[in-house]
Amino acid sequence: MRRHESTQRPNELRFFPADEANAFSKVECARDFDRANFGLPVGGIAYWRSISDCDRKTALVNPMEAIVYCEYGSPDVLKFEDVEKPVPQDNQVLIKVRAASLNALDAYMIRDAWLNRLIFGLRKPRDTRLGRDVAGQVEAVGKNVTQFKSGDEVFGIGRGSLAEYACTLERALVVKPANVTFEQAASVPLAGLTALQGIREGKIQPGQKMLINGATGGVGTFAVQIAKSFGAEVTAVCSTRNVDLVRSIGADHVIDYTKEDFTKSDQRYDVIFDNVCNHSFFKRRRVLTTKGICVLAGMGGAGVKGGEAMGRIVGNLFIARGLSSFTNQRFAQYMTKMSKDDLIMLGDLVQAGKVRPVIERTYNLGDAPEALRVFDQGHARGKLVITIGEASR
Ligand SMILES: NC(=O)c1ccc[n+]([C@@H]2O[C@H](COP(=O)([O-])OP(=O)(O)OC[C@H]3O[C@@H](n4cnc5c(N)ncnc54)[C@H](OP(=O)(O)O)[C@@H]3O)[C@@H](O)[C@H]2O)c1
Repeated sequence: MRRHESTQRPNELRFFPADEANAFSKVECARDFDRANFGLPVGGIAYWRSISDCDRKTALVNPMEAIVYCEYGSPDVLKFEDVEKPVPQDNQVLIKVRAASLNALDAYMIRDAWLNRLIFGLRKPRDTRLGRDVAGQVEAVGKNVTQFKSGDEVFGIGRGSLAEYACTLERALVVKPANVTFEQAASVPLAGLTALQGIREGKIQPGQKMLINGATGGVGTFAVQIAKSFGAEVTAVCSTRNVDLVRSIGADHVIDYTKEDFTKSDQRYDVIFDNVCNHSFFKRRRVLTTKGICVLAGMGGAGVKGGEAMGRIVGNLFIARGLSSFTNQRFAQYMTKMSKDDLIMLGDLVQAGKVRPVIERTYNLGDAPEALRVFDQGHARGKLVITIGEASR
């Protein structure tokens, strides 16, 4: 990971892709994924013979509860177990996790897909811990950490956040606004950053028309509200049961995709923020203004699997993007980055009440496997949040 950081701004950590090329994000904790050299047979053998935390039989010195996965598969592979409490490195912060939230990334990472095996471990996942979004209290800091001290309330991205404690780099965290709950703060990081950075990619201007396809999941509910705060006129696309929800968070117009196909409308949009990417290049182009931008944000969430997911990836990242280079319209793909400035901005929007995190339900840590099963169906309304502490025991 270190080598990915060299060209970045100081407050930015770059995520990089896994099985859905534009949707995976990651921040380093204690171990690096890119220790691997996949090109060498020696590396392959090392991985084949490698062990994960699940193979270690030594007694735990400082146990804590966590969600772990020892093999790839469905959310059924998740276990609620005692593991060793992490120790922060010099540049890391140890967080007592109060809340975490689920993202498509968590669902994708555990899947038994060849690309996952190449990236996360051939035989079994090397890193057995799950979760990225985190909110909690600083428990301890490494000796090089200057911005946080024990007791600070923070939120951000920390690997293995589905646990009592997680550690992460100080630049992956910001201070939690006092009037924002841990649950709200934990719902923000990945989905909020994806929405904010995607909307910027669309270069939306006040008064312009923006359509958000997939407006009621984690990313979509932030995108609707952030786009409104930027002064856009927002049309939200969702299923029947979510029409009222999306209106309640500010959408000016709603299209129920079970009744109407937005690509057949007479309306033209300056920006399409496409969280689903389930329409062809030509159909979406038809409803874009002459210099409109279609932002390719996602593939429809964790409910889209196998061949369908691959079809959307190929159809968008290669075909739609390629074809758009011959037109004045742009089909833009981006990768969400951890940016402290963006996270602070999102915290400010929530603090000011301009963005209200939509949380469908909270679960105790021990029920996280059930939460991921629900999330994996692809129809979460906003975010699913895991609360951690005495209640989870
Ligand atoms: N670009 C990046 O770096 C990046 C980063 C993070 C995430 N992502 C991607 O962003 C996407 C969304 O993530 P998420 O966390 O918001 O997922 P999510 O919470 O599971 O939401 C998925 C949404 O898709 C909607 N949907 C499903 N089928 C639809 C259809 N045919 N038409 C319109 N909407 C439909 C669902 O709404 P209904 O329930 O109403 O069907 C739901 O609101 C994922 O594909 C994820 O991988 C990208």
